[in-house]
Amino acid sequence: MKRVAILISGGGSNMLALVRDMLGEHPARPVLVASNDPKAAGLARAAALGVPVAAVDHRPFGKDRAAFEAALLAPLLASEPDIICLAGFMRVLTPDFVQRFAGRMLNIHPSLLPKYPGLHTHSRALAAGDAEAGCTVHEVTADLDAGPILGQARVPITAGDDEASLAARVLAQEHRLYPAVLRRFAAGDRTPVFLP
Ligand code: GAR
Repeated sequence: MKRVAILISGGGSNMLALVRDMLGEHPARPVLVASNDPKAAGLARAAALGVPVAAVDHRPFGKDRAAFEAALLAPLLASEPDIICLAGFMRVLTPDFVQRFAGRMLNIHPSLLPKYPGLHTHSRALAAGDAEAGCTVHEVTADLDAGPILGQARVPITAGDDEASLAARVLAQEHRLYPAVLRRFAAGDRTPVFLP
């Protein structure tokens, strides 16, 4: 049974999709949900499902990412995770942190990578006149949003879409894709999952 720690910054809807999937027959189970924002709504949601939670506010550390990460490592290492899932975790991680979990840290990103790494993915897809958008689960490496792809789901962009409507359509697919990828990854299979 693989132990999964999930890092969030906000509402945690992807985290919930992962945790709910792991409540059933599954090769992994959630051992920690941690956030850099003590007010992240996802913390209460995780606790309500019986998952241990931790908050390490990044703000007192200012620009010192390494010091923030050192503080985050305390609860994270205590949970003895085999796999780390970033799920709407909005802090850039240092190469040292990434290296520590090399090959066992996943992230979900709301674009069809390699298109649109970074922020504002939906407005960039709309501005480019793209016919489709989607989401990607990838292995986290030191290069932002550029690690090996472990799964993708695509959605059409329709006339009249705005950032909010597109984000909602993509998010619904994120909730299908991330659990499907984690299930496969936790079973030791790194074959990418492609959802239509
Ligand atoms: C999701 O759309 C996720 O793909 C995105 O933040 C949202 C978090 O929602 N992540 C990134 O943009 C990472 N750079 P959630 O808290 O409801 O899961």
